[in-house]
Amino acid sequence: MVFNREGAIPASWAWKRMLRFVVIFLAVAGFATLLWPSHKQHATPMRTQSNNITISSKVQCDPDVDMLHRLNIKKLADYTRREIVVDFNPNPLAVKQKVDQPLWGTKLMGPPLTLQVPVPPKSTDASHIDFGVATTVSRLNESLDQFQHWAGYTRTRIFALIEPDETKKGVQEVKIKAENLGINLFITESADDYLHRYFALVSLLEKNMREQTKWACIIDDDTFFLSMPALVDALAEYDHTKPYYIGGVSEGLPQIAVFGIIAFGGAGVFLSRPLLNDLAVVYDDCQQMTFTGDRRIANCIYQYTTTHLTIDHRLHQLDLMKDASGFFESGREAPLSVHHWKSWFEADMPKLSVISNLCGESCLLRQWHFGDGWVLTNGFSVIKYSLPVENEIAMEMTWEPHNGATDESYLHELGPLRQRDDGKISFQLVDAVSEPNGRVTQWYILRDKDGDQVLELSWRKR
Ligand SMILES: *[C@@H]1O[C@H](CO)[C@@H](O)[C@H](O)[C@H]1NC(C)=O
Ligand SMILES: *[C@@H]1O[C@H](CO)[C@@H](O)[C@H](O)[C@H]1NC(C)=O
Repeated sequence: MVFNREGAIPASWAWKRMLRFVVIFLAVAGFATLLWPSHKQHATPMRTQSNNITISSKVQCDPDVDMLHRLNIKKLADYTRREIVVDFNPNPLAVKQKVDQPLWGTKLMGPPLTLQVPVPPKSTDASHIDFGVATTVSRLNESLDQFQHWAGYTRTRIFALIEPDETKKGVQEVKIKAENLGINLFITESADDYLHRYFALVSLLEKNMREQTKWACIIDDDTFFLSMPALVDALAEYDHTKPYYIGGVSEGLPQIAVFGIIAFGGAGVFLSRPLLNDLAVVYDDCQQMTFTGDRRIANCIYQYTTTHLTIDHRLHQLDLMKDASGFFESGREAPLSVHHWKSWFEADMPKLSVISNLCGESCLLRQWHFGDGWVLTNGFSVIKYSLPVENEIAMEMTWEPHNGATDESYLHELGPLRQRDDGKISFQLVDAVSEPNGRVTQWYILRDKDGDQVLELSWRKR
């Protein structure tokens, strides 16, 4: 021990002082050990319920076993329920809002939190936009729930070009299901392979234009629009009487290097009526072109018309691998479209959108920063950063670089960017339900091998 190196204090005096300190320290430490048992000696007792679910004794309520099964919880370490009252505010609100109260109040039912949200958009008329999708009958069937969120009861039409359905029953079944969800679905069967069927959508949409049609949009079956009112407003910014080719490019430069500067299909490819008319004339020539899919659409437009791509940065292909949380938690204006949410990374968009039943589409991905440092991104996550956020507008680069991408490869679409926070504590949305009484309940879960922690948010209107 280095104690008297300076020599300013006499050694004997120092030793006495040291001895006194050591005695006091030992006495205090001894008592402390007796009185405050460490976590290791007394791990939180767990009780096992029937159905093999282990519940920590820290959990003060008796959670519903069916619900725990639904949330895929085997071991429950903690369960907190918080009630949220939404207050509709007619004034413009920033996406990111600060709230003085803590998110984690007392356990069980603390006092409700009141959060401000914008007055939701009125139901929208999208009868001037037609959508086209190339898929199979079973994938179409699976996609209806997500289509319902943006297309249901908006008077838009979806044209699906599917592989021949051998059973014949499937098409009928899917049509009935769509009708019950308020989706105007038109199904055409085609023996072409996928990428040829994709380009054939151009002709299908052109042939089916009706008087009010201003836009055609070609999507993938996992293209998700967060808000039809927002999409209608966005398209209104363009002159639909002029030829327009509108879309989003990949967020990663290597993908652009491979596929070119084209409207990437997953983000949605928008063609104005005049451009559709132009393409109808050259359709047969374009069918002979080398590339297929979204590249054939691009090359057909570039080679046979004078129209160029208009990039709308709110349309997202989302070429982000594994973890796209930085994108969703950026606290920026919500994207118009997202893609790859059930393949390259996981984000259950239909579940994320359930909260819109209570507070409208404009409430999705809104962000509240609470007094205790926790951040709620509505429908996506509840997080706490371990590092200070120096640049509030920078997006956390949580994804894995793809195809040799560097940090700079993502700047053109997603910048400003900041490094990943590896110590971020993150509760992810796992489920959400709309209840008959108008409430919406969301479950955010932090998975851990020692037991999952659950935050239940129960939302209602004021
Ligand atoms: C509980 O787990 C045991 C063995 O792990 C298994 O045999 C049993 O079927 C499980 N019971 C239930 C209700 O899941
Ligand atoms: C459509 O999905 C439902 C489940 O949501 C399933 O029961 C039905 O068999 C599916 N139909 C087709 C044609 O794939």
